[in-house]
Amino acid sequence: MEPQQQRLFAPLVLLLATIFFAGAPAVIGHGEAASGLHPVVLLPGYTCIQASDAGRGWFRLWENYTALQADPGLLPCYQDQLRLVYDRAGGDYRNAHGVETRVVSFGTARSFRFDDPAQKNACMERLVEALEGVGYREGASLFGAPYDFRYAPAAPGVTARAFSDFSTSLTRLVERASERNGNRPVILVTHSFGGFYAMEFLNKRPLPWRRRHVKHLVMLCHGVGGSALIMQVLASTMGSPSPAPTLRDTVLSFGNRSFGSMFSLLPSPKVYGDTPLVITRAKNYSAENMPEFLAAVGFSDDEVARYRTRALPLTLNFRAPLVPMTSINGVGVPTVDKVVYWDANFTEMPRVVNGDGDGIVNLETVLALQRLVGDVPDQPYFKSILIPNTTHNSMISDDSALRVVVKEILEVNQATSS
Ligand SMILES: *[C@@H]1O[C@H](CO)[C@@H](O)[C@H](O)[C@H]1NC(C)=O
Ligand SMILES: *[C@@H]1O[C@H](CO)[C@@H](O)[C@H](O)[C@H]1NC(C)=O
Ligand SMILES: *[C@@H]1O[C@H](CO)[C@@H](O)[C@H](O)[C@H]1NC(C)=O
Ligand SMILES: *[C@@H]1O[C@H](CO)[C@@H](O)[C@H](O)[C@H]1NC(C)=O
Ligand SMILES: *[C@@H]1O[C@H](CO)[C@@H](O)[C@H](O)[C@H]1NC(C)=O
Repeated sequence: MEPQQQRLFAPLVLLLATIFFAGAPAVIGHGEAASGLHPVVLLPGYTCIQASDAGRGWFRLWENYTALQADPGLLPCYQDQLRLVYDRAGGDYRNAHGVETRVVSFGTARSFRFDDPAQKNACMERLVEALEGVGYREGASLFGAPYDFRYAPAAPGVTARAFSDFSTSLTRLVERASERNGNRPVILVTHSFGGFYAMEFLNKRPLPWRRRHVKHLVMLCHGVGGSALIMQVLASTMGSPSPAPTLRDTVLSFGNRSFGSMFSLLPSPKVYGDTPLVITRAKNYSAENMPEFLAAVGFSDDEVARYRTRALPLTLNFRAPLVPMTSINGVGVPTVDKVVYWDANFTEMPRVVNGDGDGIVNLETVLALQRLVGDVPDQPYFKSILIPNTTHNSMISDDSALRVVVKEILEVNQATSS
């Protein structure tokens, strides 16, 4: 592959959160017995879900690292099976014709263990180990809620069947986890895109249900209002699918731009207003003229219409979860703030203007979360913790960050009323 191509795909690699630090496995100390703990339900980040396909009997579709390492020739086939199509008649996304998928092991954190070593640091596997170190037990007090990251929640009144089904399953999981643990309400712990899912899930449940079943939401590495990084990623996947630096990225190649979740984390006008985010000589693009940007990077009118009707209203309607909440984020790492394509050639490597954040999540979106949740009178409790020099993935893989996260979860357990 030519260096230019590798550079073009750099932002894609970032989004897929393949940044990780090698390090010793976490040893977090040993704690109390499981009895007395509030059950924890984990929602991992983007791409941290294993999905299987029914084609030739159920087999591992995402992520089948072993098969792809052994035979890169399988790539086009995997890419094609992961692709979503938009069904106009049904008004919703679905699998390509003839493909049937399901997430692996809903209810458990078992499916967070990948055969790809890079995913150990990106997909909560070390957090699971750390929680087990303080007495949590898989299947007894520790549960997982994997979701198919290709789909996203949509605006009220718009069909989003995959997300509705996920919500139904998560509702049952939360209720059962609570019942099995002396009716203690659960602590939802999310990383990255899992936070977006959890917020939308909570906002769609009746308030009395939330207050009865959810002790606390602990959200790691997620703000509100999306990121200019996503604009850069959408620009970098313009044109025909090109090879990316890793097999994983090539397979995704951002879903050949077909995923329903693609527009979910675009910058929101509610947070960014008309601040220029993508800068060219002749014209700037902000959250407020996003449809023009999407058209400029090659999306069809139909696709832009889906951004307007499915994704945009959600970001405009952001609401506090009204359950006690702790938000933990990394800062001190250069994070995309603005992207400059001076000649408006979006297939060129842009100049990036960095701000503060965790390398993926910009600090501005964390400050927006503090305003939009912390200042709401009905929000029972809100705490925001910023950990210096902590990247998006080291939050759930570095010993020192994990210690902070586990300490907060134990403190939430102690809180009599929050
Ligand atoms: C991975 O894919 C290969 C080839 O498609 C298949 O034979 C294998 O069973 C898959 N692995 C899992 C764990 O399903
Ligand atoms: C990408 O999408 C286009 C248009 O939908 C389709 O023609 C092409 O085959 C897809 N490529 C892959 C690798 O899925
Ligand atoms: C675009 O934004 C930059 C930075 O805010 C500003 O200096 C420039 O004048 C703007 N350009 C146009 C064409 O509006
Ligand atoms: C845009 O940039 C790409 C990559 O540098 C280059 O191959 C292409 O010719 C450029 N297009 C125009 C219209 O300048
Ligand atoms: C930030 O973290 C890196 C990697 O863990 C470490 O090498 C570096 O010394 C840290 N810098 C500061 C200022 O703490």
